[in-house]
Amino acid sequence: MTFKTTTLVSLLAASSFFAGGSALATTFKVAVGDAQGSAQWEMASKFKSSFEAKVAGKHKVDLFPNGQLGSEETTINSASMGTLDFSVLAVNNITPFSPTVGVLTLPYVIQSAEEARKLVTGEVGKELTANTVRDAGVRIVGWTFSGFRVLTNSKKPIKTLADLKSLKIRVPKNEIMIASYQAWGINPTPMAWSETFTALQQGVVDGQDNPYVTVSAMKFSEVQKHITNIRYVFSLEPIIVGEGIFKKQSADVQKAMLDAGAEATEHSYKWLADTEARIKKELIAKGMQISDPADGEKEWIAKATTAVWPKFYDSIGGKAKLDAVLKTLGR
Ligand code: MLT
Repeated sequence: MTFKTTTLVSLLAASSFFAGGSALATTFKVAVGDAQGSAQWEMASKFKSSFEAKVAGKHKVDLFPNGQLGSEETTINSASMGTLDFSVLAVNNITPFSPTVGVLTLPYVIQSAEEARKLVTGEVGKELTANTVRDAGVRIVGWTFSGFRVLTNSKKPIKTLADLKSLKIRVPKNEIMIASYQAWGINPTPMAWSETFTALQQGVVDGQDNPYVTVSAMKFSEVQKHITNIRYVFSLEPIIVGEGIFKKQSADVQKAMLDAGAEATEHSYKWLADTEARIKKELIAKGMQISDPADGEKEWIAKATTAVWPKFYDSIGGKAKLDAVLKTLGR
């Protein structure tokens, strides 16, 4: 083969690799809602290294942590419109745009990390991914496992629903989570994630809920004192790509995105198992005080499941969808 033929062959190979997208190498931008050190960041970093290795350095991935590219809710619209490539965000912040993913946020449906993994890597995950493409113009390519959302506040130990009464609690702008707190007897304050630290710092709200790893990465120990170990929502935080961006890529690049997403999902699952207990100890060392619900969470569970589940059957696609999820989980 002459030098010219070899060059032509490699040029052709390169152009077929990029077919459908730009002929030039692209740097994909990934918005990350949380700070460096978070579960989101860890998963996104693994996605970056896996994807870049698969495309042999022909594309790059840049990560932008801490909501630099907009609030989590805003990044859905940006990805959908094609002005942002990827975003890593809590699934509860996708629900307003694609209500069926709400099944993952219904209180006390997911009871362990294993159950979360079983759902999102199986048929349920496939169906929800198809639904987000249809409803919101974004495709889920991988999942972050962040742990149960525990309740934090700056005022006092919370052990019972009665203790909760006097507190102002921030929740995501998610109807299911709002309804959960209403079932527990208070009206929470819906607020964008990007505004939450400042609101806690300034006392606009007293508390919020998020997993241990998020509380730590976001430095909430500086503005919160108490933690209650509730387990109403297991936090899943997908990486999404704008469907228009995805469709523009060659089959090879699409496959690299999906495979990197699957690898990052597995990595995230292991990372959480290896990390959460250490983070909890670190938060205690920083002065946070941890309580358990006094009744083993019985009243919290009974009130939330009775009042909240039926209210959202329609939005998740019917009661049969929840039944199918529970059957998958052997319940
Ligand atoms: C939220 O509370 O809005 C999110 O769960 C925060 C996050 O992305 O970690």
